[in-house]
Amino acid sequence: MKAVVIKEFGTSDGLEVVDLPVPDPEPGQVRVATEAIGVGGVDALIRRATLGDMGFQAGHVLGSEVAGRVTAVGDGVDASWLGRRVWAFTGLTGGYVEQAVADIDEVVVLPDGLSGVEAVALGGSGVVAHFALERAGFAPGETVLVRGAAGSIGVSVVQLAARGSAGAVAVTTSSAERGVRLRELGATHVLDREGGGDSDAPSSFDVVIDIAGGAQVPLFLDKLNPNGRFLAVGLIAGLPPNDFGVPLIAAFRSSVSFATLSLDTVPVAAKQAVRSAQFAEAARGDLRTVVHEVLPLDQAARAHRAMDEGRVFGRVVLVP
Ligand SMILES: NC(=O)c1ccc[n+]([C@@H]2O[C@H](COP(=O)([O-])OP(=O)(O)OC[C@H]3O[C@@H](n4cnc5c(N)ncnc54)[C@H](OP(=O)(O)O)[C@@H]3O)[C@@H](O)[C@H]2O)c1
Repeated sequence: MKAVVIKEFGTSDGLEVVDLPVPDPEPGQVRVATEAIGVGGVDALIRRATLGDMGFQAGHVLGSEVAGRVTAVGDGVDASWLGRRVWAFTGLTGGYVEQAVADIDEVVVLPDGLSGVEAVALGGSGVVAHFALERAGFAPGETVLVRGAAGSIGVSVVQLAARGSAGAVAVTTSSAERGVRLRELGATHVLDREGGGDSDAPSSFDVVIDIAGGAQVPLFLDKLNPNGRFLAVGLIAGLPPNDFGVPLIAAFRSSVSFATLSLDTVPVAAKQAVRSAQFAEAARGDLRTVVHEVLPLDQAARAHRAMDEGRVFGRVVLVP
């Protein structure tokens, strides 16, 4: 089968299309003939080795979420799964392929009316958005700032905060055109990447959901209201400065807090329940999936180039 691997870490030119044997599902796993494959910001982080090699070697098969039909089941998995249309999380590897394997716990049946392309635009990132707002203790009426809102996680955070009756939903983005699209999803204020550019926006927020990280984290920690919560869910721009926590502690009389959220610590059953609910909402049109572009699997490098050039709004999807 066709697969896309990292031949060399760094630029998108280091991706290569190769032939690999079709995998057999292990006990407790299913095999899925992919009809859509999500291209996530985390794939770009791994490829660029922004945070080091993370233990991955050359030959690493990229990708972590697919949608398609179950073509084989491993020992211990009910044969009734065969032929079902599903979304599946494959871990931090094994997604950019024609036939993927996934643990049955990480597989969700797709509702009628939801395409594979829509499913992989939402399946991984919508759940991050849900648990980010939950972990931040977001409550109706509170003001929210989403940093890095134009990616697949951000577009869901914006929608969930808006329909959760946020007092304001501010976003950071790099262009006015993206700002218009984010307003269509529920943003009330559009800021530039430094947090300026809208004099009507609140100067501070109850909740900051940060997908970007990097050197500017202190700038946005400074934008917390008393009792405000800053939740880091992504590190697109790398780690914050080593001393980023010092002003936070020095301002302890404001009772602000900094926390991280990784889906790795959310129980699988809780993730799957939220994911199924979000798929049903998307099928009904109550939650929007944002697909930037659909490309053939063997053009994965083009998808990564688009991410590197900052052109992606929402998610790029590959099809075999
Ligand atoms: N917590 C978890 O469990 C979990 C799960 C999955 C992924 N992640 C993490 O989430 C991140 C990827 O999320 P994603 O796919 O939604 O993001 P993404 O699509 O890679 O990027 C989101 C947006 O961030 C903005 N951005 C890019 N570079 C920036 C910079 N230097 N400073 C400020 N903004 C910048 C860009 O929008 P503009 O150009 O409009 O500013 C971009 O569209 C990764 O770090 C990944 O590891 C976390």
